[in-house]
Amino acid sequence: YNLLLTLPFAHRFGHRVLSRSVVLAILATGIAIGIFSIRSPFDDMHQKRLFVLHHENLQTHAQDLHIAAADGAPGLELLVADIAKEFGVTDAPASFITMNDNNTDWNPLYPFSSFLSPYKVDLPSDPSFVPPSPPQEQFIISAVNSTVDEAAGTRSFTLKVHHTGIIWTVIAFDAHVLKWTLDDSPPDEFARHHIKEASFYGEDTWSVDLTLKLPLTGLLKVDYIGIGEKRMWPGKKSEKAGGGRAMMLFEEFDRYLEETTGGTVDALLLGCVGGETVI
Ligand SMILES: *[C@@H]1O[C@H](CO)[C@@H](O)[C@H](O)[C@H]1NC(C)=O
Ligand SMILES: *[C@@H]1O[C@H](CO)[C@@H](O)[C@H](O)[C@H]1NC(C)=O
Repeated sequence: YNLLLTLPFAHRFGHRVLSRSVVLAILATGIAIGIFSIRSPFDDMHQKRLFVLHHENLQTHAQDLHIAAADGAPGLELLVADIAKEFGVTDAPASFITMNDNNTDWNPLYPFSSFLSPYKVDLPSDPSFVPPSPPQEQFIISAVNSTVDEAAGTRSFTLKVHHTGIIWTVIAFDAHVLKWTLDDSPPDEFARHHIKEASFYGEDTWSVDLTLKLPLTGLLKVDYIGIGEKRMWPGKKSEKAGGGRAMMLFEEFDRYLEETTGGTVDALLLGCVGGETVI
């Protein structure tokens, strides 16, 4: 169900600024790293890889933190408990999350996310927080040219995704898709679909034509998520002011990890923004 099975391992490349010409090389290396980290357990000579997603809901501005290691990293539970104490809501322990296709929080790493055993840490809400205006990131999901064919029992439309300031967008929805403008044919059944896009800087729309089998249960609910272009640590460290609360937290988190683990943990810190809509 994927346009590209790619992973945003951009932070591997430190401060190098991403551009069209290096993105492909990064994708290839990213996949190699991903496969390696699944197949071989870490030992003392290798840093443990930790995936940390900061998630901000673009509608409610609620934020939370999602943490996972791809292997059964020993000591992870303790580390996560400590992270919850340090950064989380007072007296709220980290919760272990069941990973399945309905879990939208890890969609930026889909389908690799199915190998993860994640924890969630609720972050305190800051009553003084005012969302920047105009917003740095904007997601608009719309159904263009929507038509219902009662006789054929179908609804057809162009699903358009507009994602200013956001890359690696993923949408997920439940439907019986009869036709779409993707490479492979959709499964002939009602199913959950993930459509992932590997965007380049400066491109902020994509679309897919869909024909869905009726009846729909009302309108189509679409979960959407992506990575804030300026919310990647340490890749965007030098532009951290543009990354809002995610980057402020990552800066602290990076320092905390260095102090508590002495550099044995290599964390991929990604600031995600998302929400849900019906079209
Ligand atoms: C996902 O959600 C759908 C509808 O809410 C439900 O039917 C399905 O069983 C869920 N899948 C899993 C793996 O929990
Ligand atoms: C919607 O339909 C019009 C008229 O057929 C067409 O020109 C336009 O490109 C369509 N829009 C999209 C997003 O496909």
